[in-house]
Amino acid sequence: MEVSDAILSRRSIKKFRPDPVPADVLDRALAAGLWAQNHHLTQPWRFIVLGPQTHRALAAANADVQLEALGSDGDAEARGKLRALAEGKFMSKPRIVVVTYHLNPDAQERREDFAATCCAVQNIQLAAWDIGLGMQWSSNVMTRHPRTYALLGIDPTAEEIVGFLYFGFPAEVPQARPRKGLDEVRRNLP
Ligand SMILES: Cc1cc2nc3c(=O)[nH]c(=O)nc-3n(C[C@H](O)[C@H](O)[C@H](O)COP(=O)(O)O)c2cc1C
Repeated sequence: MEVSDAILSRRSIKKFRPDPVPADVLDRALAAGLWAQNHHLTQPWRFIVLGPQTHRALAAANADVQLEALGSDGDAEARGKLRALAEGKFMSKPRIVVVTYHLNPDAQERREDFAATCCAVQNIQLAAWDIGLGMQWSSNVMTRHPRTYALLGIDPTAEEIVGFLYFGFPAEVPQARPRKGLDEVRRNLP
């Protein structure tokens, strides 16, 4: 696929076929992240590929957090439904990869490392798209929750989660939503 075609046709995929994602296919996509631009070659990104046990534990933690947010509202049936819904959403993602970056003590370096990690995610999504693998970047509440850090063994003083990447073969490719035209965002100076 031409790079320009990949850039234009890439979509965030939210509905996946249940088929598992072969490890070598996932690795091909992740390896594209290693070639993202990054200042001072800090290569700040880290990829945590969740196995089935951790995936299930994260789905359960997500349900717990949603139920905690509900407080004492809702009867047992409603709470059970919410749990099933919350767990089901996570379990419908065939493979989850958590992307983090190392927290540099210097504020400017940290900002650049965050930016570089976002570039890595874009590379990964485009490479995945090229091989027929769909992906969605999620920044849901669990990406910031202390329970996630504890569950995945991430030291929050040393690393920050940039997002969850949901991977799978697309069941549905959404229509692109209209974008601003270049004229709306470009300002030419003399
Ligand atoms: C930093 C970041 C966080 C995102 N978080 C979410 C999310 O939590 N949930 C979601 O449905 N999509 C999320 N997305 C995907 C965007 O919603 C998606 O890119 C946007 O709707 C445009 O669709 P497209 O990627 O198919 O062009 C995120 C994208 C980025 C860059």
